[in-house]
This record gives sequence, structure tokens and C-alpha cells, in this order.
Amino acid sequence: MHNPVSKSLNPEIISDNPVLADLKSTDATANASSEHLRRMIRDEIFANGGAISFARYMQLALYAPGLGYYSGGASKLGVPGDFVTAPEISPLFSHCIARQCQQVLEIIGTADILEVGAGSGTMACEILNTLEHAGTLPDHYFILEVSADLRERQQRIIQQRIPHLQQHVYWLDSLPDKRFKGVVLANELLDAMPVHRVHIGKDTEQEYCIRIREDEFEWCLSDIDNDNIRQRTCDIRQMLGGVIDDDGYITEINLAAESWIRSIGELLDCGVVIIIDYGFHRREYYHPQRREGTLMCHYRHRSHADPLKLTGLQDITSHIDFTALAEAGDDTGLNVTGFTTQGHFLLACGLLEFAEERQSGQAAGSPIEALQQAQEIKKLTLPHEMGELFKVLALSHGIDMPLLGFSLKDDRARL
Ligand SMILES: C[S@@+](CC[C@H](N)C(=O)[O-])C[C@H]1O[C@@H](n2cnc3c(N)ncnc32)[C@H](O)[C@@H]1O
Repeated sequence: MHNPVSKSLNPEIISDNPVLADLKSTDATANASSEHLRRMIRDEIFANGGAISFARYMQLALYAPGLGYYSGGASKLGVPGDFVTAPEISPLFSHCIARQCQQVLEIIGTADILEVGAGSGTMACEILNTLEHAGTLPDHYFILEVSADLRERQQRIIQQRIPHLQQHVYWLDSLPDKRFKGVVLANELLDAMPVHRVHIGKDTEQEYCIRIREDEFEWCLSDIDNDNIRQRTCDIRQMLGGVIDDDGYITEINLAAESWIRSIGELLDCGVVIIIDYGFHRREYYHPQRREGTLMCHYRHRSHADPLKLTGLQDITSHIDFTALAEAGDDTGLNVTGFTTQGHFLLACGLLEFAEERQSGQAAGSPIEALQQAQEIKKLTLPHEMGELFKVLALSHGIDMPLLGFSLKDDRARL
């Protein structure tokens, strides 16, 4: 029996453990879907001359229409799924995000919220509730969600929990085509975007690809054919300053996240994009000691490092290089308005005040509930839980004001 875990904390890394061999799905429908996806990937590998980049494999494993982890029917979030996220741990998280939205909405006036990758829809409900109480509802709360089944789950939860506010919520199939005013939210979105995985040897730079051996997927290395990836890999080598041992240095480059930021930069007329995810500024990301990268898989609340197993049934993620996001924002005229840890952000947005209010509002205010809330706060803020590894980055356009969430600590200079 395993406690539900948040995605990045890796309480039980089992990559070199025989238990990995037992990590199987016993669900016949899920297995058939996975086999279908594996056949599709095999066909693409053969059509591509025997190998595809890991980034392409990850793209298909997570997003192949109807079969990928996010585009198919896997249960994903929550206790019956594979991992829990901050909004699932405690409503206090969403209350704090709402407080930050409130500050921006009050300055802009008529404005919207766009949440990209809304998971179960819990955060949308809590944010709308909090903003309603504060008298600052956005005109529209847009949700852009790639997963059809999560979209249905979001629609159900919004109908159940905030029926009187559901007319504010609209689901989009792609980013809006009109310039956007308001707040764009992305919690644990960018870590699920496909990454290029590279190997830096003493004298070589190569990209990890996937090929077939005896009908199974297998890693292989090949020359890097993308100029951008080649340049990034050389930059990483320089950053490592020659500290590369005989096994080489393995890491990831997330071009998809950068291009997502650029699309948002082109969209944002006036407002802020708030990105919450696990990761580091660049020097810490590409640290000589992080020599096996940050690639991680999540299946039924267990974490391991083998993305070639359970294709389409498990989540695959990597940590975020926040410096790369800030640079991508800068390319499209976004300003870096704040960068801090999740713990500092939540405390600055009034986490403890919200906790007190919630406690006093609960009918019984029982010691058990107080204890549970204390656990939630610890999980969200303590450095060895989500408090430090998770960061918050704000990029803005058309507004110039210090944001509440960064008032306790702002690490922009480290990016
Ligand atoms: C790890 S979950 C996080 C969910 C939610 N934000 C939370 O914190 O609970 C990632 C979410 O992003 C969605 N997603 C992944 N890639 C996406 C994309 N390119 N556009 C929109 N949604 C995406 C997934 O379907 C899922 O809802």
C-alpha cells in the first residue's frame, strides 16, 4: 500500500529494483490500448529507418490521439490514478493562486483567466469560489485541456461544486485566437511536454533515440540532427566546465515548453502568466552532479525511471529549466515579474490566513481536521516536501506592478 505522492518527490525510485519487473497493469482494456500504441510506435520506428528520437517517443506515449497517457482514458490524477498535484492536496493552494489572480484582475479591470491543463478541475472550482467571495470574478474562465476524459471530469466537478458559476467556464480546443487580457495559469503542465534527451561524453554529443530489439523498445544513441539541440548541448557542456566522467552526462532539453511560452507571449496583450512546476534555474538544472537527468515516470503512485515500460499507461515527466522559460518569454516581449519557491509564493499569498479562516469556518473545527490541515500546509510548503523543489515563475505583458506572490522572496536574479 502506497500513500498518494506528488509527481516529483520520488519516495520510491525503483528503476534498478526487481519490483520494476512487477510493475504491470492487470487491466485488460488498458493493456490492449497500450499494445495498440506500442504497435503504432513500432510502425513509426520502422518507417523512420529503425529509430525515432526519445522526444517523439514521449510525444506519442503521452499524446497519441486516443491512446497516449493524456489523450487516452488512463485515470491519471488522484488516489485511483498515478499521482496527486497541489490542488488535490489542499484547497488552500488554489485559494492562494486565486488571491494572486485577484490582484491582477483588479488592476486590469475586465479580464479573463485561462487555465491550461486543468486536471480534475478542482483548482478551477476553488479559484472561482474564492474570486466570487472577493467580488472579483473574471469575465470568462477558459480551460484548454488536451485530455477528453479529464475535460469530462472537469465539466462534472464544475457542475457539481459550482453550478451557479458554470456559465463563466468555457472549454477551448486551442489557444484563443484573440489577444488575451488577464491571467494564464499552468500548474504542472510543462513538465509533461516531450523532451529531447541527450548524452554528453568526454568528446561526443549525442541524442537518445528509441529502436526495436526482439520486439521491445530499446535505447540507442545517434548523432544530433537538430541545430538547436546541438547548440544547447554544447552550451551545457560549457556550463559543466569539463566535469564529465567516463559514463558521460545525461540530461534533457525541453523545446516544447519554450515554444509554448512563446505562443503565450504572442497571445498576451495585458496580464500575467503564472507557471508552477518542479525544476530549477539553469545552473542548478545542469549541475555536474545531476548526471542522469531528471526523467521520471509515475504509475499508481510509484516513481521509476523507465519510460519504455507501460507505454501510454504511465506519466513521463522531466523537471523544468526555468531560465529557458524566462528567455523564451523575453523573446516575445514578456517581462519576468517574479520567480520564487512554491512555499514562499503560497505564504506571501496568505496561505496561513486562508488556513485560519477555513479552520474557523468548519462547523466542528475538530482536532482531526486541524491536524489534517496542518499536514496539507506542510506538504505544500516544507522544503523537503513540495515547498522548495516546486517554483513559481510569473511573466507579464502590459502591466507593471510588484506581484503579491513574490513579496516574501524573489529570486529573479538567479535565473
Ligand atoms: C500533471 S497534470 C496537472 C493537472 C492540473 N494542472 C493539476 O495541477 O492538478 C497535466 C495536465 O495538463 C494537460 N495537458 C498536457 N499537455 C497539454 C497541452 N499541451 N495543452 C493542454 N493541456 C495539456 C493534461 O491533460 C493534464 O490535465
